Amino acid sequence: MKIPKYIFLVTLPFQWILLSGNSNSTRGDERILQADSFHLGNGKKVFTAQCSGCHGVAGQGSYGPNLCDKYWIHGAHYHNIVHIIKHGTSNGMTSFKHKLKHHDVRDVAHYVLSLQGSKPANAKAAEGKLH
Ligand code: HEC
Repeated sequence: MKIPKYIFLVTLPFQWILLSGNSNSTRGDERILQADSFHLGNGKKVFTAQCSGCHGVAGQGSYGPNLCDKYWIHGAHYHNIVHIIKHGTSNGMTSFKHKLKHHDVRDVAHYVLSLQGSKPANAKAAEGKLH
């Protein structure tokens, strides 16, 4: 049997309904997950390259404070962390305003937050206030 070519055009609305139904449910979630892990992956890369020398590879702290516990000197919120990364402090934290791109600052700040609750070996004693 010969299938006429226009059958694809005639069934197009149904094809669209089938595909869009699919992407509204699971595919959308997958896309969000992929985007998240991509950003955290970049955050980890930036952290390893720029931060681990002072904060330890796992964020356990060495010269700089432990970033895995619930104690913060300068605040526990995303915007506090972005501020510290951009501007540094007079107590030894480098300013990255001219060293990192905006999306790298964002990604590494998310990565720092993702370390919360991890319990790395040789963690430095808590500094700052409990948040
Ligand atoms: C030259 C060493 C050094 C480097 C490099 C460094 N830090 Fe720090 N960091 C410090 C020190 C020291 C402090 C504590 C500053 C203070 O007490 O004011 C600090 C503080 C912080 C804080 C605040 C912690 C708190 O308890 O409030 C965050 C967040 C932070 N650093 C993230 C980063 C990130 C992310 C990077 C990499 C992009 C980085 N640091 C690179 C030394 C460093």
